[in-house]
Amino acid sequence: MFDVELIRKDFPILSREVNGKGLIYLDSGATAQKPECVIELINRLHREYNANIHRGVHYLSEQMTQMYEAARERIREFIGAAEREEVIFTAGATASLNTVAYAWPERYLSEGDNIIVSEMEHHSNIVPWQVVAARKGAQIRVLPFDNEGRLMVERLDELIDSRTRLVAVTQASNTLGTRPDLKPIIEKAHAACAHVVVDGCQGVVHGGVNVQALGCDFYAFSGHKLYGPTGIGVLYGRRELLESMPPFLCGGDMVDRVSFEKTTYAPLPLKFEAGTANFIGAIGLGEAVRYLSELDLSAVERHEAELTSYAHEQLEQIDGMCIYGKCSDKSSIVSFNVDGVHHYDMGMILDKLGIAVRTGQHCAEPVMAHYGVTGMCRASIAMYNTKQEIDALCRGVQRAVRMLR
Ligand code: ALA
Repeated sequence: MFDVELIRKDFPILSREVNGKGLIYLDSGATAQKPECVIELINRLHREYNANIHRGVHYLSEQMTQMYEAARERIREFIGAAEREEVIFTAGATASLNTVAYAWPERYLSEGDNIIVSEMEHHSNIVPWQVVAARKGAQIRVLPFDNEGRLMVERLDELIDSRTRLVAVTQASNTLGTRPDLKPIIEKAHAACAHVVVDGCQGVVHGGVNVQALGCDFYAFSGHKLYGPTGIGVLYGRRELLESMPPFLCGGDMVDRVSFEKTTYAPLPLKFEAGTANFIGAIGLGEAVRYLSELDLSAVERHEAELTSYAHEQLEQIDGMCIYGKCSDKSSIVSFNVDGVHHYDMGMILDKLGIAVRTGQHCAEPVMAHYGVTGMCRASIAMYNTKQEIDALCRGVQRAVRMLR
């Protein structure tokens, strides 16, 4: 049985006050809170184990290296990758996507080719492709969504052609919550011999992923949205592709032999892990994944889905309410505006009530342009949120409307 009160006890921050009110944290899409076990482990690693990995024969270095590689293995299992060499630790999803955007085109993108990017992407899955397209003389094509926030997968047939080399798409939109049907996208892309990169930031945390079953070529996510620490993320890539790509960042740990005549690179995964890795972050992320793996994740998903539909039902009763993203299959993100109320003002009043939501453009300006708005309020729901918190959000929104209209 899923017991939200038990879950809440694992997250110490949830018992603090903000502006004299009990914190209601509805901004987990920006960063999720951390369970005690992750906080404690990071603390203990600094106190008792700190030593650089892959670099020493001494006890602490070996212990830390083992824990780092064990975290990689745990994450491999969690995302269903075939081999540990396909799991690269990065600084976050943005770093993962930029790694692909820098290293993949060397071999796979030429002048006159095109890259298809969905209209609902986060800037991190748009801008790197624009930069590389400009560098290589390639074209960006946009796969649109409709006003309900549904990605129009059927339009892919008009966009894809023999010069399409890559499709960049999210597993779950950070603004609309939409979970596009990725299977047909991947099938169509592969039929055209194009690769597919999936931004899994908002998807891996609500329902997980099995990268082999999904069949994507690359998959990126951040640790801090998955109840882990900041500054750590993962890039999954199919081994054959990663092996065929040059390194992105260069320096220590990513080399095999270095001389002024010729330098050779370390095998995967280290080829893409230059410099001192964020080993404590990686082990912390491994601990977050262990914590999650001990929960009934389908019950977690049901709880989040129930809260999301409840939030929709309740918010829609407010006069002038506009919710963006109404697909039946959506993750636990509810973005909205209310007629006559600026999203920043709404966010400020909610904050005074101890309610944390995100306001603004959510790093997704094309989504704002689609709806012709300058920003939105976004409540992003996690496993530790409750129905009472959604009620408090609705009361807070009504109060803001009364004050501001
Ligand atoms: N990408 C994060 C968000 O959607 C920060 O809020």
